[in-house]
Amino acid sequence: MSRVLHRAGGTPPVAVGGEGIRLRLADGRSIIDASGGAAVACLGHGNRRVAEAIGRQAGAMAYAHTGFFSSEPAERLADMILDGSPGGLTHAYFCSSGSEGTEAALKLARQYFVEIGQPERTRFIARRQGYHGNTLGALAAGGNMMRRALYEPILSPAFSHVSPAFAYRFQRRDETEAQYVARLADELEAEFQRLGPESVVAFIAEPVVGATSGCAAAPPGYFERVRAICDRHGALLILDEVMCGMGRTGTTHAWQQEGVTPDIQVIAKGLGGGYQPIGGILIGGRIVDAVRTGSGSFMHGHTYQAHPVACAGALEVQRVIAEEGLVANVAAMGARLEQGLTERLGNHSHVGDIRGRGLFWAVEFVTDRASRGVFDPALRLNERVKQAALDEGVAIYPMGGTIDGRQGDHVIVAPPYIVTPAEIDEIVDRVGRAIDTALADVRTA
Ligand SMILES: Cc1ncc(COP(=O)(O)O)c(C=O)c1O
Repeated sequence: MSRVLHRAGGTPPVAVGGEGIRLRLADGRSIIDASGGAAVACLGHGNRRVAEAIGRQAGAMAYAHTGFFSSEPAERLADMILDGSPGGLTHAYFCSSGSEGTEAALKLARQYFVEIGQPERTRFIARRQGYHGNTLGALAAGGNMMRRALYEPILSPAFSHVSPAFAYRFQRRDETEAQYVARLADELEAEFQRLGPESVVAFIAEPVVGATSGCAAAPPGYFERVRAICDRHGALLILDEVMCGMGRTGTTHAWQQEGVTPDIQVIAKGLGGGYQPIGGILIGGRIVDAVRTGSGSFMHGHTYQAHPVACAGALEVQRVIAEEGLVANVAAMGARLEQGLTERLGNHSHVGDIRGRGLFWAVEFVTDRASRGVFDPALRLNERVKQAALDEGVAIYPMGGTIDGRQGDHVIVAPPYIVTPAEIDEIVDRVGRAIDTALADVRTA
């Protein structure tokens, strides 16, 4: 009997090894990891270069407190990611997870306004059906109603939420894309006015919403409107690229496809590819300057921030991505994945939408395509698809509550950046069969 408190009831199978896009289980099965966990394993499994870099750093100097010392891997990782100051981002703060990254972003944004003499800014605006992590601050920022519900009474009231930019579900049939964007922008503006624009610290959003609503990119022009509203009111724009960033959507940063730049960007999963726990924030120069010329230091910190072994692992991951041109492979294989999913499932009577970017795709299920009705959440369709996929030897990431935290089902396909054309075709094949099987089960349930 396992003494580990697992996520779900029961004890899951034990994974013992991994090579390329495959994981090996203790019972001998080989599973294609077609979602890299939750869009984490960007280099796949068993990368020797990364494993050796981690081993070398652990042997040379595993830990030195960041209150006293910096480390070579942390310095080189920041240099590499911030080379050319993308979007005016000049500094990095590394931590151990996406949630810690969100916490750091929220706190630094608040501190920035205190430093520049605007301590009355205490409010954050976020979106429903977005996710920023599971620690209490990040959970309060997020709009994943399913994950929030139990903790609602202990979440900070400093956060309010506006509508997601999620056209498949929320663009009205009588409005154009431009009208939908205008409606969302008006709603955000109204929320600034309701709170008092001078009280808002930041707006936080995922450029492509990940697990919560399933690879939902905003309609064109949305983030430009958002950026303009934040600028007009002197608030910051925090973009959470924990899931969609670091190459996952076909460009190093997801914001590069939106025509905007963030003031603070949260990164994690694809940064270290799962070889070590690591997250971080990338910070605009004016924020760092305000802290430096003000109080002098960021009033925040963790024992394991900028951990040398984690940074060494992430540095090697980023070097492999750069040297092997893997972001270009994400774009090329992403196009093949889109085409494969569309050909296999595009006419499926229970597939309502296939959406995504790069190697970040979701399939959303409906009772019928015309009404876009949802399956009874009690059927747990997304879990059934996950299980059917595992039976087909492929792991994909399931989620329910696509629409409002309760209703709707989707699965995410997000293979490692190293995936080959033949592997994409095999993934599509297996996922297609798993979806057929799970839906056949549900119809007879
Ligand atoms: C967009 C986004 N932000 C934050 C997080 C939290 O990251 P972590 O689970 O590493 O704390 C996640 C994790 O799924 C995420 O997808």
